[in-house]
Amino acid sequence: MTELKNDRYLRALYKQPVDCTPVWMMRQAGRYLPEYRELRAQAGDFLSLCKNAELACEVTMQPLRRFDLDAAILFSDILTIPDAMGLGLYFETGEGPKFSRPITCKADVDKIGMPDPEGELQYVMNAVRTIRKELAGEVPLIGFSGSPWTLATYMVEGGTSKAFTKIKKMMYAEPQTLHALLDKLADSVTSYLNAQIKAGAQSVMVFDTWGGVLTPRDYNDFSLQYMQKIVDGLIREHDGRRVPVTLFTKNAGMWLERIAATGCDGVGLDWTINMADAKARIGDNVALQGNMDPSMLYASPERIRQEVSTILEGFGEGTGHVFNLGHGIHLDVPPENAGVFIDAVHELSKPYHR
Ligand code: CP3
Repeated sequence: MTELKNDRYLRALYKQPVDCTPVWMMRQAGRYLPEYRELRAQAGDFLSLCKNAELACEVTMQPLRRFDLDAAILFSDILTIPDAMGLGLYFETGEGPKFSRPITCKADVDKIGMPDPEGELQYVMNAVRTIRKELAGEVPLIGFSGSPWTLATYMVEGGTSKAFTKIKKMMYAEPQTLHALLDKLADSVTSYLNAQIKAGAQSVMVFDTWGGVLTPRDYNDFSLQYMQKIVDGLIREHDGRRVPVTLFTKNAGMWLERIAATGCDGVGLDWTINMADAKARIGDNVALQGNMDPSMLYASPERIRQEVSTILEGFGEGTGHVFNLGHGIHLDVPPENAGVFIDAVHELSKPYHR
């Protein structure tokens, strides 16, 4: 077993005692950091950063040099799988991700294959191996993937969407086609995450950014069912240690019990639920990750500390909480405010862990 100098993040997910509450931030590496913008300008574009193991490693390390973070997260993107399936991923400035060959029908679904994690996606595994070496046991490394539903929204819509009309049309008019796509994605995500674990990821997280746009029934059938398949197929122990899996569906406060019942270790929370309510509902079964509104990082240091204190009080005494934002950090947040947030979590949580 590789020794870790700081294993607070893993211990909180195992619900083992910690000295203070661990903290990391979704999208902690990225555009709010001037050193990221500089490296990205040199590399040319975002995908070139992802596809070069040394650059991806450097970007992963940037926030750890600035802040006292308790975990590193692989610098990559959830859209690597559809890209490897041949959909042609590109980024248009200001418009987000796009696919040149989106999925429109059953024949398109039948055509796509399962990418080989050590083939087309080997650049991701190389990044994981490089980052693990560079981290030298300082903090654990989180690997990740998108959920099948969230990946399918980008693949069918051809990019970012607001109303999700194309994928919902497929869901209601041609459900077998969408199920065939989601099933392929669930298998691909499982083998992708297992390869990340073998390459050195010590924990994994599934981002279901768009599950919250579904009806309660459809959330079960088109999103949760496929995340369940992933949880069931994941390597849960590696290198002598449990590999915790965290599921994060944005806007899913009403379905927390169902998410916790998948057998995951952690449930990610956005800011639309009170920490105390979430803890009362599922805190006996799983660890909770979250849940400060990322926009709070625009506020004064005093206001940020006050919010951290409120969320800590909501969770109350004991372990099982990984502090995070309720979604990714905004790109125009002053980096100093992120520092105030992280230090406040460590300092103000100590009384809850005696
Ligand atoms: O958290 C981290 O620090 C790890 C890196 C990470 C990125 N994307 C880097 C990135 C993670 C975990 C993701 C996940 C991701 N990617 C999600 C799910 C997470 C969530 O926020 O719910 C989604 C929906 C995507 C798809 C995607 N990729 C979008 C919507 C964008 C932004 C496009 C834009 O122009 O605003 C990306 C690009 C992206 N992924 C960037 C980063 C740092 C910005 C790239 C750049 O322009 O430099």
